[in-house]
Amino acid sequence: MIYRTHTCGELRKGDVGAAVTLSGWVHARRDHGGLIFIDLRDRYGKTQVIFDESKDPGAFTAAKELSGEDVVTVHGQVVPRPADMVNPALSTGEIDVQGNRLQVLSKAATTPFVISDRQSASEELRLTYRYLELRTDELQHNILTRSRAYQLVRQFFHDRDFVEIETPMLMKSTPEGARDYLVPSRIHQGRFYALPQSPQIYKQLLMIAGYDRYFQIVKCFRDEDLRADRQPEFTQIDMEMSFVDEEQVMEVVEELLRLLFREVAGAELPEPFPRLTYAEAMERYGSDHPDLRYGLELQEMAPHIEGSTFDVFRKVLAGGGRVLGLVVSGGASISRKVSDELTDWVKHYHKAQGLAWMKAGPEGLEGGISKFFPGDIQQAIIADLGLSPGDILFVIGDEARVALPALGALREELARRQGLIPEGVLKPLWVTEFPLLDWDPDQGRYLSVHHPFTAPHPDDIPFLDAQVQDGRQAAQVRSRAYDVVINGWEIAGGSIRIHAPQLQQQIFSVLGITPEEAETKFGFLIKALHYGAPPHGGIAFGFDRLVMLLVGTQQIRDVIAFPKTTSANSLMDGAPSEVATAQLDELGISLKKGKKDTGGQ
Ligand code: AMO
Repeated sequence: MIYRTHTCGELRKGDVGAAVTLSGWVHARRDHGGLIFIDLRDRYGKTQVIFDESKDPGAFTAAKELSGEDVVTVHGQVVPRPADMVNPALSTGEIDVQGNRLQVLSKAATTPFVISDRQSASEELRLTYRYLELRTDELQHNILTRSRAYQLVRQFFHDRDFVEIETPMLMKSTPEGARDYLVPSRIHQGRFYALPQSPQIYKQLLMIAGYDRYFQIVKCFRDEDLRADRQPEFTQIDMEMSFVDEEQVMEVVEELLRLLFREVAGAELPEPFPRLTYAEAMERYGSDHPDLRYGLELQEMAPHIEGSTFDVFRKVLAGGGRVLGLVVSGGASISRKVSDELTDWVKHYHKAQGLAWMKAGPEGLEGGISKFFPGDIQQAIIADLGLSPGDILFVIGDEARVALPALGALREELARRQGLIPEGVLKPLWVTEFPLLDWDPDQGRYLSVHHPFTAPHPDDIPFLDAQVQDGRQAAQVRSRAYDVVINGWEIAGGSIRIHAPQLQQQIFSVLGITPEEAETKFGFLIKALHYGAPPHGGIAFGFDRLVMLLVGTQQIRDVIAFPKTTSANSLMDGAPSEVATAQLDELGISLKKGKKDTGGQ
């Protein structure tokens, strides 16, 4: 049987008169007395089929029985649409198919939601019936765009001599950062593989093995708290290069991003991308992944605090903290209720002690904490921060590690609330010179900001040496790590790596990893570094996040065919699920009493 001569998106005016066969899903059916109109849908488009009782009574009667989402084959003739019925929004909008035979290939039960109106159903329902949601125009567009992006990425790397190499999915557990997903071994009971959080160590070993340029589009697994831009299993475009420094990695990355945005989204990205060091990004935007689509930069308030009578801020400065402001132009209309809400929000989510404000009036500053600032100081603030009547100034005084990110978060929140984010603009940037290490007071040790294989900035290595001798110097060490940020999303992260075994061991020791522990966890890497390791570096893109930007969605689940919920469940197949006792016995695993799942999404 010939199911189709054309797809449902293919027929044009030039096909008028042709006898055609189409197959697809019944998207909609409209009865008009002796005429039945069917919108027949497949992934290529929709075609309107008309069954006319007076011309083909048999086909007409069969069409009367059709319901939404039935799968059918239609034979008919292409006819032109009357001029006033032409639909320019549809690729097939200039023609109809006059149906003369209809075969039902598969009847569909009533769908739990209307395919043409995805947003009418709850997300829970849509995820349970994901295969139905995947039929919607929006998700088909996203998944097809994703597929196009894969092809472009592969071709791009192939054209530049990168080798595509698969690395293991079952690997040794070496948790750093997120928790590993573990896989029990049946053959070696009591032992576990881990699913990779990233192929980091393997790609470095491939450089040591001489492959020079590697890439892979690869699944990664992280057992961490989920958000709108995170999934427990996600995809990276992972790459690594030998005999390079930051510049050559950045060049390849920018070239790839420019190509993808041009080919897929028809958008031009700047050349080169602007760069900010981590310190600059924090200082100006209170974030290491700033959204540059709008200004709203943080401003220094310290010089104006000395002359004020606001003791809280004076104490903050005396204690080595920071007092910083944010000016919202025209923000004086922000009500007391909203500023109270914002205050609770920065206190609760960003651990700030409070949020102060003052408004600019015709004479000087008004309301909020303005009474603590004498007239001349008010004028100095107005001049220094560029305030105009009708503006509002928000101020946070706190330890630097609280004040900067709290204002950074407030900046984003205010931009959203005040409608300051322009549509259709792409603002990429590089953030460089991240700190190498972060002191974790709970564990009483340093943690890697990126990962432990990231090279320190050469100028800062003396601080590492000092750390080994007397402690607490390492916080100042900058790294050779870099991130790509677009519109406030961290799209890619990478670094130049350590290729000298002694330096790698030194970093492990600063991280509080004992030589024995380093040997058990990473011995194979340290050993490999002794056998001729080229200088190397690379990066990994969050492919899902990249596709989010390419299609313009805020939700990572919209670009993954079968995603998990925020509690890492798959509502469609019910994973994770309990397994039979026999399966556990085979693995030598018994569950602790009381460790049953309590459900949740
Ligand atoms: P990193 O941990 O920064 O680096 O990850 C690289 C990029 O992956 C994306 N990403 C995620 N996307 C969706 N869900 C998640 N849970 C998730 N976690 C991370 C982000 C991020 O920028 N091996 C290093 C790379 C390297 O140094 O070359 C790494 O994995 O967009």
